[in-house]
Amino acid sequence: MDVVLRPAGADDVPLFQRFAVEPGLIGLDWNGFRDAQSPVRRYAEDGFLGPDDGRLIVRSGDETAGFVSWRSGSFDGRTKYWEIGIALLPEYRGRGIGWRAQALLTAYLFEHTPIYRVQAATHPENVAEQKALEKAGFRFEAVIRGCEFRGGRMRDGYLYSRLRDDPDPVLGNGSVTGSGEEAVREPLAD
Ligand SMILES: CC(C)(COP(=O)(O)OP(=O)(O)OC[C@H]1O[C@@H](n2cnc3c(N)ncnc32)[C@H](O)[C@@H]1OP(=O)(O)O)[C@@H](O)C(=O)NCCC(=O)NCCS
Repeated sequence: MDVVLRPAGADDVPLFQRFAVEPGLIGLDWNGFRDAQSPVRRYAEDGFLGPDDGRLIVRSGDETAGFVSWRSGSFDGRTKYWEIGIALLPEYRGRGIGWRAQALLTAYLFEHTPIYRVQAATHPENVAEQKALEKAGFRFEAVIRGCEFRGGRMRDGYLYSRLRDDPDPVLGNGSVTGSGEEAVREPLAD
């Protein structure tokens, strides 16, 4: 399977706008309508590639499947980690793209930033994301109690992480390697 991460182009802005205004498209993370012009401004500002957060488009073959994202956080106010996220369009889910895209993004962040920890949070009912994170080499860490307001009430979250020293996930018969080029490509087919 050919999964590639690449920077967003102007043609990708409508994809981000869809996720801002189409109820449910993003799945359980739907939190109401968002400013659909925000992606337009952000693309003009830095192409979604800032020092503290970013997005890359997930491509599968010749098709755009969705996007991955990351943003910085810190527990002690000094030591940064990345928190990653992903949203695939419904028709691309359940095809092995999600775990590979998150594995590729993590490899990319470890290769290009001096970060030690990459974390990801998901919902107790999001079994697909839990499995995808584990296949991407993440470990379950904890239940984060009462951490988000969603669907009319406060809810728990599940926290996962991968540290720089953790083993790489196996993709097909090889492991993920990041790339410093304009795209990040899975090197081996499954
Ligand atoms: C969550 C998401 C990224 C997972 O990516 P995906 O491409 O659908 O998942 P994959 O095909 O890589 O599958 C990974 C694992 O999850 C399993 N899986 C996939 N969809 C599943 C589902 N609906 N229910 C249960 N397990 C599922 C797969 O079988 C696989 O596990 P296996 O190898 O043990 O069989 C994707 O479904 C998505 O974008 N969902 C909407 C947005 C979202 O929820 N983002 C995460 C927010 S925290």
